[in-house]
Amino acid sequence: MTIAVVGATGMVGSRVIAEAGARGHQVLALSRKPASGAPNVTPIAVDANDPAAVREALAGSAPNAVVLTVRSFPVDQEFLVGATRTVLDIAAESGIRVLVVGGAGALRSPGDHDLLVADNPVYVPAEWKAVAAAGTAQLRTCQTHEGADWVYLSPPALLAPGERTGHYRRGTDTLLTSGDGRSWISAEDLAVAVVDELDTPGHERLITVVHRDS
Ligand SMILES: NC(=O)c1ccc[n+]([C@@H]2O[C@H](COP(=O)([O-])OP(=O)(O)OC[C@H]3O[C@@H](n4cnc5c(N)ncnc54)[C@H](OP(=O)(O)O)[C@@H]3O)[C@@H](O)[C@H]2O)c1
Repeated sequence: MTIAVVGATGMVGSRVIAEAGARGHQVLALSRKPASGAPNVTPIAVDANDPAAVREALAGSAPNAVVLTVRSFPVDQEFLVGATRTVLDIAAESGIRVLVVGGAGALRSPGDHDLLVADNPVYVPAEWKAVAAAGTAQLRTCQTHEGADWVYLSPPALLAPGERTGHYRRGTDTLLTSGDGRSWISAEDLAVAVVDELDTPGHERLITVVHRDS
């Protein structure tokens, strides 16, 4: 497969590239600052705010799938929603599958199905509310898009660089916790889940994963 990763230099994007490359996939690595070129990886400098540039990069190279895994500091919901719509539009025209790495805020709270994680102060303190709301808006952008083949992967509450165990537990629309009671996964294992979903597409459009001990 050829996989385009938008957000190639990020915590998640760089690990998705490593995982995809290790499995023998070709990777197009898109970000404003080009990612370093490894075997199987083609860096492309692109601003996700520029639909024409994204279109040229994606339509010109015809990947089988695109992973959108961007974020900005400070959070910019308009950018996130706009970049998501751009990628979905181009993917729909070209028949490319889209996997969005989004936020945990779009999930439902464990034990309270009616309460989004984004609105739950147990998981999202006030200072993270805008970030969580942007992720929820990004999911809505996918849900209201006509024609694109997308899947939205919400990480658990905590996502950080760590060990690649190759294991994880998978769920759908509700935040998961691991055996130690924490809602977490390493970025390396999240990348395993991303590439697994691309290699063997599931049926759900909203999925989540969490660390699994073995
Ligand atoms: N628990 C959670 O819910 C949780 C935790 C962490 C992350 N996440 C989500 O995971 C995803 C990836 O996060 P991350 O931590 O990997 O982010 P990150 O390390 O901050 O990386 C962000 C990436 O986006 C790229 N980017 C930013 N603006 C861009 C633009 N205008 N055009 C092209 N590329 C642009 C950056 O590259 P350049 O700057 O070179 O362009 C970089 O590659 C995000 O959706 C984030 O919200 C969720």
